[in-house]
Amino acid sequence: MRLSRRVAAVAVAFGTMFATVACSSSEEPGEGSKKVEVFTWWADGGEKAGLDGLVGVFKTDCAGFEFLNGAVAGGAGSNAKQVLASRLQQNDPPDTFQAHAGAELSDYINDDQLEDLSAQYTEWGLTNAFPKGLIDNLTVDGKIYSVPANIHRANVLWSNKTVLAKAGITKDATTLDGFFADLDKLKASGVAAPLALGKDWTQQMLFEALLISKLGPEKFNGLWNGTTSWTGADITDAITTYKRLLTYTNKDRDTFDWTDAEKLLMDGKAAYQLMGDWEAADLDAKGFKDYGWSVFPGNGNTFQWLADSFVLPKGAKNADGTKCWLKTVGSATGQAAFNQKKGSIPARTDVGTDGFPAYQQAAMADWKTATQVPSCPHGSACAQTWQGAVGSAQGKFSSDGDVAALQKALASAAAEFGPKK
Ligand code: BGC
Repeated sequence: MRLSRRVAAVAVAFGTMFATVACSSSEEPGEGSKKVEVFTWWADGGEKAGLDGLVGVFKTDCAGFEFLNGAVAGGAGSNAKQVLASRLQQNDPPDTFQAHAGAELSDYINDDQLEDLSAQYTEWGLTNAFPKGLIDNLTVDGKIYSVPANIHRANVLWSNKTVLAKAGITKDATTLDGFFADLDKLKASGVAAPLALGKDWTQQMLFEALLISKLGPEKFNGLWNGTTSWTGADITDAITTYKRLLTYTNKDRDTFDWTDAEKLLMDGKAAYQLMGDWEAADLDAKGFKDYGWSVFPGNGNTFQWLADSFVLPKGAKNADGTKCWLKTVGSATGQAAFNQKKGSIPARTDVGTDGFPAYQQAAMADWKTATQVPSCPHGSACAQTWQGAVGSAQGKFSSDGDVAALQKALASAAAEFGPKK
C-alpha cells in the first residue's frame, strides 16, 4: 500500500512507525469529489470489522458518495492523533475523523476546528436518540459538534479459560486480594507473567482500573473534576499496589501495543489482560474462542465508559458527503452494523439486542444499571495534553518504579492540565 506524499512526510517528521494508511496519492479527495475520507485508527482485526460494517450501510444509504479509508494503525490513536494534529495545523483536514466524546472532543471545539451539527441533530431526529449524559459530553455552549457511534467499556478483565483451569481457578475474583491470590496460583502453575500488559496508554488503563477499586467511583470521578486530591495517602497506596501488580506482567510491556499483549493471552503465555471491550471483537475476528471476561476485580458495578464520535471539520472538502456519513453513523441501522462487530454497544437507546454477540448483550444490560465513570487515555475524562503527561509519567514509572516520583508527576499534571479551582 502506497503512502501519500503528505502523510509520508508527516510520518517521517514525527519519527513514528505506522502500518496502514489506506489513502494513496491517486485517491486524494478534492473539490467536487464524491470521496469521503474517513480518518480513524481502525486498521485491523475487530476494529476494521466494525468499520467495514458501517461502510456497508454507508454504501447503501449514501450511494452517491464513495468511502475513502484514511485509517492510521496504532491502538488508541497513538499514531493517528499525531498525524491528525499535523493535518489540522496545515488546514488539510480529512472529511471526517474519529474523536472521543468528552474533554478530548472539547480540545477540537475550543480550537475552533469543528462545525456545529445542531441543525443536523434536529433534521435527523438525533436529539432524543442518545442518552442525555452523552449529549452533554458532546455539547459546548449549547452547540453539538459530533455524532457518537458507540459506547465502549474500558474496565474489563479478559482471560484465557484453559490457562485459568490449569491453575485451578474456577471463579472470577471480585476483590483485589482475590485477584492477587489468583495471580499467585498462576505463577505457581508455571505462568511467569500471568497479566499481559502493553505500553503507556494500556498502563494508564490498568492503573485507572486499580484506582476505581481503591477509591470507589465517586472519588475516582473527583480525580478528573478536581474534587479528589492526587497527593493523598490513598493515591500513594494505589501506586504501591500498582507497583506490585506490575511484578505479574511481562517485562517487555513498554514495547507492546494492546494487540501484542492480547497475543500473549491467546497463546496461553498469560492468563489475563485488562483492556477495553474492543478486545471482544478482536478475539472474535481472530477466531479465538477460549476467552472469558469479568469486570476488573474490585470495580463492582462501575462501568468505565468512552465513546467514539465523528465530526465535520471546518474546511472539509466534501461536507455533503460527510453529512451523509454522519447520518449513517447516527442511524439505528448504522449503529447495529458497526457495534455488532466492534465489541461496543450502540450509543442510541433504541437499538435492540438481536444480532449482538453474548458479550455486548451483557454490556448493554450493565450500561443501564451501572455507575458510570470516564477514562483519561480514551478522552472522556481528560484532554490530550493531560493524557500525554500521565502517559509519560507512567512510562517512566514502568522502568524506575519510583512511587513518590509518579505521584508527584500525576499531581503536577492535574494542576497544569486539570480543571482550575
Ligand atoms: C477507541 C476504540 C479503539 C481502541 C483501541 C480507543 O481509544 O475508542 O475505538 O478500539 O482505542 O485502538
